[in-house]
Amino acid sequence: MNPQEQQFEQLIEGILTNGYAICDDFLTQDEVENLLKTFALRYQTGQFKQAGIGKLSHVQQDTSIRGDEILWLNANSEDAAERVLLDKNQAFVNYLNQTCYLGIVDTEIHFAKYSIGKFYRRHRDTFQAQKGRVLSVIYYLNSNWIPQNGGNLVIYTHQNNLEEAVSIAPLAGRLVCFESQKLDHEVTEAFAERFSVTGWFLNR
Ligand code: OGA
Ligand code: MN
Repeated sequence: MNPQEQQFEQLIEGILTNGYAICDDFLTQDEVENLLKTFALRYQTGQFKQAGIGKLSHVQQDTSIRGDEILWLNANSEDAAERVLLDKNQAFVNYLNQTCYLGIVDTEIHFAKYSIGKFYRRHRDTFQAQKGRVLSVIYYLNSNWIPQNGGNLVIYTHQNNLEEAVSIAPLAGRLVCFESQKLDHEVTEAFAERFSVTGWFLNR
């Protein structure tokens, strides 16, 4: 098994046992830095928009629930940094389809920026796409992130009928994935600018 396959296996084991998984150093520091450059360029040129909530047909913008700004990525992007990420993302999809028969037929993925004071209240990722969201994946891009910056992903799991909140810092290179239909989660208020890429794997 090559190192990437070992990461995939570790992620799958976590998903199967807990419904979520964390893999540090999924992206290298160079990959993170290059992505941040593309991210900054696209942000500065006004390509981002305020994220919405609700179903595809009536997306609403409500910053008391969700405050991030997003930009959907083009699966055919020729930007080198985006290409590396999209290819890694697709390699994970292919591995899942080969080993877990999840029947993932499509993906969607966007950059997200939380400015200072922004958050995303507790929710589930079951809206927006017409196809079903199977897995949520989030790639974090924040170097030198400290606990005082807040901005944690909190996933709510159940152990013996008791709810447990798992707090995950958005550290550069880290990949978190979880079952979209099953787990509530939130992003706590960010006290520093917070950068990430969020994706979903879709079945029919
Ligand atoms: C989302 C989301 C979590 C995060 O975009 O739906 O829950 O940690 N993001 O950015
Ligand atoms: Mn979410």
